[in-house]
Amino acid sequence: MAKPVKTYACSACGAVFPKWAGRCEACGEWNTLEEQVLPKALPGGIKEGARRGGSKIEFVGLEGVSPPPPRVPTTIAEFDRVLGGGLVPASVVLVGGDPGIGKSTLLLQAGAALGRAGKRVVYISGEESIDQIRMRGARLGLTHSPMDLAAATQLGDILASLAQFPDAALVVIDSIQTMWTEGVDSAPGSVTQVRAAAFELIRAAKTQGFALMLVGHVTKEGNLAGPRVLEHMVDVVLHFEGDRGHQFRILRGVKNRFGATDEIGVFEMTGRGLAEVLNPSALFLAERRGNVSGSAVFAGLEGSRPVLVELQVLLAPNPGGSPRRSVIGWDSGRLSMLLAVLETRCGLKLAMNDVYLNVAGGLRVTEPAADLAVAAALISAASDVPTDPEMVFFGEIGLSGELRQVAQAELRLKEAAKLGFARAASPKRVAGGTARLSVPKTLSLVEIGHLTDLVGVVASGAKPGGKKKEEGE
Ligand code: TYD
Ligand code: MG
Repeated sequence: MAKPVKTYACSACGAVFPKWAGRCEACGEWNTLEEQVLPKALPGGIKEGARRGGSKIEFVGLEGVSPPPPRVPTTIAEFDRVLGGGLVPASVVLVGGDPGIGKSTLLLQAGAALGRAGKRVVYISGEESIDQIRMRGARLGLTHSPMDLAAATQLGDILASLAQFPDAALVVIDSIQTMWTEGVDSAPGSVTQVRAAAFELIRAAKTQGFALMLVGHVTKEGNLAGPRVLEHMVDVVLHFEGDRGHQFRILRGVKNRFGATDEIGVFEMTGRGLAEVLNPSALFLAERRGNVSGSAVFAGLEGSRPVLVELQVLLAPNPGGSPRRSVIGWDSGRLSMLLAVLETRCGLKLAMNDVYLNVAGGLRVTEPAADLAVAAALISAASDVPTDPEMVFFGEIGLSGELRQVAQAELRLKEAAKLGFARAASPKRVAGGTARLSVPKTLSLVEIGHLTDLVGVVASGAKPGGKKKEEGE
């Protein structure tokens, strides 16, 4: 008989090695390799399987239609949006996020909402005591929402207990890292334990037909802790993120076998739990002060949703020769590129300045479409002229300083008009491309072909300049 195979798995990234080492070669973390014993291979291999006479699998073609999966709405609209329309029975959702960001709060609220809608919800916590959860429930005003609550970590007990709820619609496990199964000989939270526990729970979800929600911890780098493997095992991976210093939180789809992954749900953490934010732009712009140089409003997109955010730049003199570039909420490499383009193409010299760039409100912007707004904020800060407070900016900037089209211009313009903006600086339209852009009536477009044009637009500040062109529907 084959000997059990010993391998070593990294608890940070899940990479597997035949030998132990102090440092994981895949992710570079120290002291994360743990021994794991893999089950023995099938004795005799494939030939033996065939001789045993395994039953034949039926193969089908690609044609034929399957109905869309049934959905159980949680009644929390922002949550349902990210899930793609509600929970799919027998599916598995992994919710990751930093400690204290509000994962337990979110799932307790979603579970309670489902409970009030008449579904059976089981909530099992391995992290908190019943008293702690009840206290949170009271704070959230959920005391009278029906729910089956338990504090447990032993998987055998949990699986046996779940069997008594054949009608369960949702089972929440908070968190998967605290669960352990006796069959596996390693500590809770280790890759082997997490994988084994998740495997058993997922099997129960598929056979019993309940939707399973797993809470997963996140490492310093923002990956789901331990098990990358876990991400492959589940149907949906959601990240709950935000800055703990700010009140808003974003639920972001990372993987979704039943829907789009570019959706986000926006919440606000209040004294009474998470509140849905149906108009995120208004929230992000709420504290904007007009007439300050170094600020520009970016008409961005989060998934399929337009979101307006304020970008702020502060320049501080630094004659020392090694200026600082500090970025919060955007890509620092992209800022360096923009600074280089501004210097080379527009003669804007910032080498003697520290540059601080901040996305107000704590949002993380990943789109290159923010280039134009960042450039506007930089030019405004350098010339100490506030940008037009009624103008939004969007567009990608190339290395020669040319403006490039970005996706979904119409959505961005519509959102800007909805929030009362009168002008939008955007890339010059090219024949055949976005030439037939429909522009809201209350908004005029300021088309920018090259970065040098932007300097003039910013310099004209609040006074509508000659470059603006009225655009009808
Ligand atoms: P929690 O859901 O426990 O986070 P996680 O499960 O992701 O670790 O949320 C904890 C934080 O949320 C805590 O710092 C307090 C804050 N909070 C509120 O501000 N309001 C509330 O109503 C609740 C329940 C928590
Ligand atoms: Mg928690």
